[in-house]
Amino acid sequence: MKPLKLALIGTGGIAQTHMRALAKTDQIEVVAVCDIVEEKAARTAKEYGVPKVFVDYHDILEMDEVEAVSICTWNQAHAAPAVDALHAGKHVLVEKPMAATLVDATAMAKAAKETGLILMVGVQPRFGFARKTAKAIADSGALGDIYYAEAVACRRCGIPGGSFIRKETAGIGTVADIGVYALDEVLHIMGHPKPVAVSGIANNLLGKTHHPVEGSWKWVPEDLSVEDFGVASVRFENGALMVFKTSWIMHMDSLGTNLVLGTKAGLKMHPLTIFTHQYERLIDITPQQGDSKDGDLFLAKNMAFAEAIWEGKPSPIPAHEMLITNVIIQGLIDSAAAGREVAVSVPEI
Ligand SMILES: NC(=O)c1ccc[n+]([C@@H]2O[C@H](COP(=O)([O-])OP(=O)(O)OC[C@H]3O[C@@H](n4cnc5c(N)ncnc54)[C@H](O)[C@@H]3O)[C@@H](O)[C@H]2O)c1
Repeated sequence: MKPLKLALIGTGGIAQTHMRALAKTDQIEVVAVCDIVEEKAARTAKEYGVPKVFVDYHDILEMDEVEAVSICTWNQAHAAPAVDALHAGKHVLVEKPMAATLVDATAMAKAAKETGLILMVGVQPRFGFARKTAKAIADSGALGDIYYAEAVACRRCGIPGGSFIRKETAGIGTVADIGVYALDEVLHIMGHPKPVAVSGIANNLLGKTHHPVEGSWKWVPEDLSVEDFGVASVRFENGALMVFKTSWIMHMDSLGTNLVLGTKAGLKMHPLTIFTHQYERLIDITPQQGDSKDGDLFLAKNMAFAEAIWEGKPSPIPAHEMLITNVIIQGLIDSAAAGREVAVSVPEI
């Protein structure tokens, strides 16, 4: 198999993690990199021996040799390169969250449908042992019907700095940044039911009024223009309800972890435990990973993307699944602005 010819759009922090992972395989060759800050792209190209450097991603799309692009730009710059790349005949791996807005995510999903090319959203925890095990258990029917879930991604004092906290670059704060991991995990286990209503609040009461402390993440309070806290209840078409909680900063140690309750068993993540009644006893089951290790999940997600292209398989993490995370995220933001529950629906693609 000839190596997949890949180009990276955006060479900031997470692109470096991709480059380090890709340096471990000869099955994917990075043939071009691009960043609106030329010096960042040039530095990455020099470090990893990438032959071509651009400041405008359209130049990458002109390269016949490029089969696929990996989009590592900030959230507000996911949709345009993804849609343009798909229409230029390139498969797309895009960083999480799929997009900052439901409008952007919908445009991306439509472009994938229209072109028939792969659009994969790179939520790497999908490739870890705990998630694969939880998904297999849920798909086996061992949990029964899932009627309640909690999706939780909370830090006590972990506001990231830089492009993550500015509206013009990130577009959205913790709700999509780390919230998307929790949503993806729980929705994946639940089998992607369709949300119909969301009621939530979002604010940045703490991040604007508190300063970094010893040992905490560093941010500039004056730069914070997105939410650093968001919670919502989410109703699904099948009658289930999810409580979604996410924070970058709060006066609490924990708001729990991802879990689902089913009619036959409950499942909690981190560490993965199944709670059930068996043998006339209350039984807890803890799957063991043994000597196997998760390895580099960034390499795993890039390889899954490449293998889907080579084998003509569907996207390993497809747009129609990730679109549901954007429906809930948008619902939370819209409900918070309106001060009441809002009806939501998954767009027809
Ligand atoms: N999967 C993960 O574990 C993980 C971790 C961190 C960040 N991320 C995601 O990766 C994305 C980028 O995060 P980051 O930490 O690298 O941010 P960053 O600010 O360090 O880097 C973003 C880069 O994109 C460049 N850029 C912006 N618009 C561009 C455009 N139109 N064309 C070319 N380059 C452009 C910027 O100049 C910058 O260098 C975000 O969506 C973030 O949510 C994922």
